[in-house]
Amino acid sequence: MKPLILINFKNYKESVGFSGVKLAKEMFLVKSKKYEIAIAPSIVLLKELSELKQGKVFAQYVDYHMHGAYTGSVLPAEVAEVGGYGTILNHSEKKIPFGVLQNIILECKRVGLKIVICASSLAEVSLMVNLKPDYIAYEPAELIGGDISVTSVKKKVIADAVKIVKKKGFQTKILCGAGVHSREDLVNALKLGASGVLLAHGIVCAKEPKEKLRELLR
Ligand code: G3P
Repeated sequence: MKPLILINFKNYKESVGFSGVKLAKEMFLVKSKKYEIAIAPSIVLLKELSELKQGKVFAQYVDYHMHGAYTGSVLPAEVAEVGGYGTILNHSEKKIPFGVLQNIILECKRVGLKIVICASSLAEVSLMVNLKPDYIAYEPAELIGGDISVTSVKKKVIADAVKIVKKKGFQTKILCGAGVHSREDLVNALKLGASGVLLAHGIVCAKEPKEKLRELLR
């Protein structure tokens, strides 16, 4: 399986609304034989960008509800129906109580959404691996949004996270994120055994996001 490059759009001015559509189309222009490039736009844009069929689109979050009276909820079934490929869950910026997360995972698996659970410590990695997600993204919260890459200052933690999931023998893979912004960061992540990266501002807020992504994947 090709390493996953998942670009979390978050909610920057550059990545929501009409700017978000423009950014997504730029990301989809970047082709790679070596990497799987995917985006996680705002839920408002998910259907429109999925329908472009130019690349895999993840939600940034979903609830556990099935169809019914759940005002304001984001249904995994609807995300899947309109073409969503998967979802990020438990991001440092949107933490989910473990019991709720268990229910969300069940519903995501029922409707076939790929699951990326974020974990900000090895203890959380050890806890989350038991939910058998497709990926666990190790992202120390203190490095998110900064220019110091997790792959330069948390090498041992990343390697240990890889060991934890491998020891379980499940299919879960490790992504790493927080401060990832260069090809060196990506190469280091893969050398440490990660199966890709989860990144945001390094691409989304770059002057030339398309060129920045191309440079990352060179
Ligand atoms: O979900 C990825 C994100 O939290 C990492 O943020 O801006 O440090 O790449 P950033």
